Amino acid sequence: MIQVQGLSRHFEDKKRGTVKAVDNVSFSVAKGEIFGLLGPNGAGKSTTLRLISTLLKPTSGTATINGFNITSNPSDVRRQIGFLTGDMGLYARLTPREILQFFGRLAEVPEQDLNRRTGELIERLDMRDFADTRADKLSSGMKQKTAIARTLVHDPPVLILDEPTATLDLPTARVIEASILEARRLGKCIVYSTHIMEEAEYLCDRIAVINHGQLKISGTMDELRAATGKQRLREIFLDLLELPSAA
Ligand SMILES: Nc1ncnc2c1ncn2[C@@H]1O[C@H](COP(=O)(O)OP(=O)(O)OP(=O)(O)O)[C@@H](O)[C@H]1O
Ligand SMILES: [Mg+2]
Repeated sequence: MIQVQGLSRHFEDKKRGTVKAVDNVSFSVAKGEIFGLLGPNGAGKSTTLRLISTLLKPTSGTATINGFNITSNPSDVRRQIGFLTGDMGLYARLTPREILQFFGRLAEVPEQDLNRRTGELIERLDMRDFADTRADKLSSGMKQKTAIARTLVHDPPVLILDEPTATLDLPTARVIEASILEARRLGKCIVYSTHIMEEAEYLCDRIAVINHGQLKISGTMDELRAATGKQRLREIFLDLLELPSAA
C-alpha cells in the first residue's frame, strides 16, 4: 500500500549548511498494518511523513501510495490519505461537527453519507460533549480529537499520523489508540510517529527507528529484539542511538 524507495530531502540552512533531514529512507507498509516511526527530536520523522503526504517535494527518491506516485500523481495521492500534523489549524469559529462536515464535503463525501459519518466519528472518538462547541473554546485534547476525526472523515485507505497522541492525557490517548486499532481492523494502512515507547510497542505491527535522517532498523518487535539483543523498546531505541540506558 505504501512503498518508499531511497527517499531523501535536504534543506539548505544558512548556519548549518546542507541538512539531510531525510537521507535515503526506504520502507513499505501493507494494508491492515500499523507502522511506527520512532526517532529523537529532529530525526526526520515529520519530514518523512510530509514527503509521503506530498506536502514537501523530495530531493531524490520516491514513494507510491496505493499505486500513485508522490511526485507524478500528488493529487491522487492526497485522495488516498488522511494526514495529521501537529501544526494543523482548525477553523476557530466552526464547531467540530461543522469542521467534519466541511472537510467531508471538500473530499467529496456524498451528502447523504455525511451526517452519518460525522455522527459515527463523534461517537467513536467520544466527542459528544463538545461536538457543537466552537473550536476556539475547546481544550487542546478536544482539538486533537477533532483533527484526528478530520483525517478519517473521507474514509481514506491510508492514514499518516504525526504524533497523534502527543500532549494528550491517558484516557484521551486511549481513545485515539482505539481508533487507530479500529482503522487497522477495517484494513487501513497506517504510518504513525510517536515518542511514546509503550504505545509503539502496544500498537505497531512493525517499527522503524530513524536518526539523523537515516533508518537505523525496521521490523517487528521480535525482529528488533533479535537484531539488538535487547528486550524492551526503550532499550532497543537507546541502543540504536548509541546512548547509555539506565538499567
Ligand atoms: N523547512 C525546513 N528548513 C530547514 N530545515 C528543516 C526544515 N524542516 C525540517 N528541517 C530540519 O530537518 C531535520 C528533521 O526535522 P523533522 O521535523 O523531520 O524532525 P522530527 O523527527 O519530526 O523531530 P521532532 O521529534 O522534534 O518532531 C531537523 O534538523 C530540522 O531542523
Ligand atoms: Mg516532528
